[in-house]
Amino acid sequence: MIKIAPSILSADFSHLADEINKITSAGAEYVHIDVMDGSFVPNITIGSPVVASLRKVSKAVFDVHLMVDHPETQIAAFAEAGADIITFHIETVKHAHRLVEEIKARGCKVGIALNPGTSLFSIEELLSDIDMVLIMTVDPGFGGQKFISSTLDKIERLRGIVEDNAFDVDIEVDGGINANTAKLVIEAGANVLVAGSFIYSATNASAAIATLRTGL
Ligand code: DX5
Ligand code: ZN
Repeated sequence: MIKIAPSILSADFSHLADEINKITSAGAEYVHIDVMDGSFVPNITIGSPVVASLRKVSKAVFDVHLMVDHPETQIAAFAEAGADIITFHIETVKHAHRLVEEIKARGCKVGIALNPGTSLFSIEELLSDIDMVLIMTVDPGFGGQKFISSTLDKIERLRGIVEDNAFDVDIEVDGGINANTAKLVIEAGANVLVAGSFIYSATNASAAIATLRTGL
């Protein structure tokens, strides 16, 4: 089943509770929360106190995407704030396995993200331990960027590895997902689609979500 994870990076930050309720009532499975630190990526966005406040007004699955250096310093705070899934970038860690175990021990599902320039080899040894791989389909840091089509081959190769080994791993894609690219990533094997600008700029969020889900 295809899951849709709208990114609140493109939401109106002065009305976040409403913006989250809007997408969950429109049928989104996850709320994708982009955490940026001004170091791993240029911008600074949302910290754990904001997630804790949102947790009080929403029962949705919070899919927290950490685009931060030293993510090991942030796990406790985001887990306590109410994150359901915590994804860190493989480019930011020396001891990925230890971090995976810590996230699980705190009761969260674990994802690992790869930039477009990062090889699948960097995470292959961890596939039996994690719940999700996030294939970045743009370079992280900004909403509204153009989809990088060379990532389709990476998605396809990862889908092959997951199927061949019967790993219980979701393949999430993030960046430049719209009506056209949704179809391509689903065909390549992705099953969780993040979309920010496409969903939040739509006049009808339900229709936008349905479009992405079916790839039609
Ligand atoms: C990019 C973020 C994405 C971004 C997606 O660094 O991780 O989640 O908000 O935005 P769109 O869908 O507009 O490319
Ligand atoms: Zn993201």
